[in-house]
Amino acid sequence: MSKKFFIGANWKLNLTKEDIAPFFSQLGPCASNNSTLIIFPQMPLLSEVGRFHETHHIEMGSQNSSATAQGAFTGESSPKTLKSIGASWTLVGHSERRSIFGDTDESCKKKFELALDGVLNPILCVGEEKKIREQGFEAVKKFLEGQLNPLAEILNTHPFFQGKVNAPLVVAYEPVWAIGTGLTPTLPEIEETLSWIRSFISSKMTTPETVELFLMYGGSVNRENSKDFLSLPSCHGLLIGGASLKALDLREIFHTSTLLSGH
Ligand code: PGA
Repeated sequence: MSKKFFIGANWKLNLTKEDIAPFFSQLGPCASNNSTLIIFPQMPLLSEVGRFHETHHIEMGSQNSSATAQGAFTGESSPKTLKSIGASWTLVGHSERRSIFGDTDESCKKKFELALDGVLNPILCVGEEKKIREQGFEAVKKFLEGQLNPLAEILNTHPFFQGKVNAPLVVAYEPVWAIGTGLTPTLPEIEETLSWIRSFISSKMTTPETVELFLMYGGSVNRENSKDFLSLPSCHGLLIGGASLKALDLREIFHTSTLLSGH
């Protein structure tokens, strides 16, 4: 049985133009029928990373995109412009965007919709803080419901999904307390949460068959633990920060995903 995976490399505010070619020469080609490697560099590096799109079989995404299509919004980048320089994905609502830059469920909803309008594949990032996890799974579910409800609304109403069957949709579960800390939930906790996210989204959709949902796990993923996460039945990908800056580690994680994908 083959399984499809999406591996996201979230480079955050790291690497410069000069680092890109050496990175890809270490990474090597990442061709696979069932695994897709998506690089999320700083926006000004998208074109540079795009030079390796064909040779290395990678896709590109932005770490953020604007909630408005155009106009007087200094410092923003629109999905259409990002698409025109090679991005085909964008992260929406990464926890650092939410906690440092004030992204809210409301602004994430707008960003998600606009990304679909601009024909980028948005990846909604959700995840709870430690104090919520400590209150137990009911509290986690309640919190995640708040972050997922706007998504469910979009899935039911946005023209992008109308009349579609199995349109791919990726959601990343990244507990805030696991990002960059070396801490992770237990494997049963991750599986329980991913499987709940799947059933929650499908219960909210009037026609669940319009999307094929892929759930990523993110938070302190590394070479050693990636295989365990990817082996969970509900896990179809990883969003990787720190470890994705090391080409050899990323290569190993990607190859693990290709082995587990059956190709
Ligand atoms: P990390 O970051 O792998 O360094 O924990 C993950 C992320 O922020 O997406």
